[in-house]
Amino acid sequence: MVSIEQQYIDTHPKSLERYQVAKDLFPNGVTHDARNLTPFPFYVTHSEGAHKFDVDGNKIIDYRTGHGSLLLGHNHPEVVKAVQDQMAIGTHWSASTDIEIEWGKLVTELVPCAEKVRFNSSGTEADMMAMRLARAYTGKSKIIRFRNHFHGWSDYAVPGWAAPSGVPDPVLDTMIVLEPNNISLVEEAIQKNDVAAVILEPTGAHMGQEPIKPAFLDELRDVTQRNGVVFIMDEVVTGFRTSRTGASGYYGIVPDLSTHAKILGGGLPGACVAGKADILDMIQFRDDPDFNSNGRVSHNGTFNANPLSAAAGVTALRIVRDESVNDVATERASQLKAGLNEILTRKEIPGIATGVASIVFLRIGLDVDNEDAIYDVPIDDIEPRSDLKKLGGLAMYNHGVDGFDRFLLSAAHTEDDIAATVEAVGATIDDFRSGGLL
Ligand SMILES: Cc1ncc(COP(=O)(O)O)c(C=O)c1O
Repeated sequence: MVSIEQQYIDTHPKSLERYQVAKDLFPNGVTHDARNLTPFPFYVTHSEGAHKFDVDGNKIIDYRTGHGSLLLGHNHPEVVKAVQDQMAIGTHWSASTDIEIEWGKLVTELVPCAEKVRFNSSGTEADMMAMRLARAYTGKSKIIRFRNHFHGWSDYAVPGWAAPSGVPDPVLDTMIVLEPNNISLVEEAIQKNDVAAVILEPTGAHMGQEPIKPAFLDELRDVTQRNGVVFIMDEVVTGFRTSRTGASGYYGIVPDLSTHAKILGGGLPGACVAGKADILDMIQFRDDPDFNSNGRVSHNGTFNANPLSAAAGVTALRIVRDESVNDVATERASQLKAGLNEILTRKEIPGIATGVASIVFLRIGLDVDNEDAIYDVPIDDIEPRSDLKKLGGLAMYNHGVDGFDRFLLSAAHTEDDIAATVEAVGATIDDFRSGGLL
């Protein structure tokens, strides 16, 4: 019996060739931490709808969907046309444009807290900006965040997420990292510190893998409001996905600021901070030289609202607003969850598939019998077994799927894709068994 790893090596010889070159060019041979793969990553040539194709000719059902940016699937024809048309007339005029107004209007239409908007190029930047705006607006310095929640890779977002290597201590000291889902900890931290803001991923860390209790969002809204603390929802993943109005609309909780990227840019780089006009207007020049020199938040950025991203973003957001893409992706996610739970039962493996809207988590080995029970599992017990995670990814590639413990659905996934994915998980469980892992 060929091992999972050997099977991967045997079916990806051309990817291995590329990796031999890439490993001397890039750290680990890759350009994003999440693209690290042992023994080597696979190299993609093109994509269509819910599928991508690698250099070895493998067709893969894609559940990483542009790190979550492709709710519409790959190469959506309307987005492709909008980008091509824009490319032909110009991509950067160092000037204001009609299309940025349209993009901004769509954001204010869809995002519940959005009275005003400022565009950036990445979610990392949007989160940096939201934190800085909150500090400038409140005159306070500390930000409360939650362990394992991801808010980009800037210095300020590192504590609670990654090693603090390279980040100055005074920066680390401005962040208060708390356990999620415990409002008493938040209240206590606010009483003891000069807290400017609370930021979180509204469905939980790792795109919802470590779930946030919906009641906690309510409690946060209440506590921040009572204490004059800015409540920031990082909707980089959940925005325009959890519902067309994001997690904020889905749960009916309106923060002061929310940050957006991924789907906002229609598959191209684009991000924004949206929220209360008073706070966004910390960027606005006033008739007050002292404020302009000492109080204002300055913000440049070569590619802010660049017409190419705006063209893709406007097209994607119009489709999100006018069509039922969220419902379709969520429906496919429900089908996937049901199929995964059925296969776990059939194979007599403890575990459960969970998830909010169009994101699904496969939790092999977790002994909970209903989806709601997931909220009570301590976050340290919720991570998948690292050996299963590592080999599960490879085994799923071997069976034609990019995704193992987390699936980001798009409206392009079909019922056939879901059925094939469930089959691939069944085959992966068999591989685990043959390899003595289960
Ligand atoms: C919740 C969250 N916030 C922020 C970011 C950072 O966004 P970007 O990769 O566009 O910088 C990400 C990226 O995955 C994210 O998942």
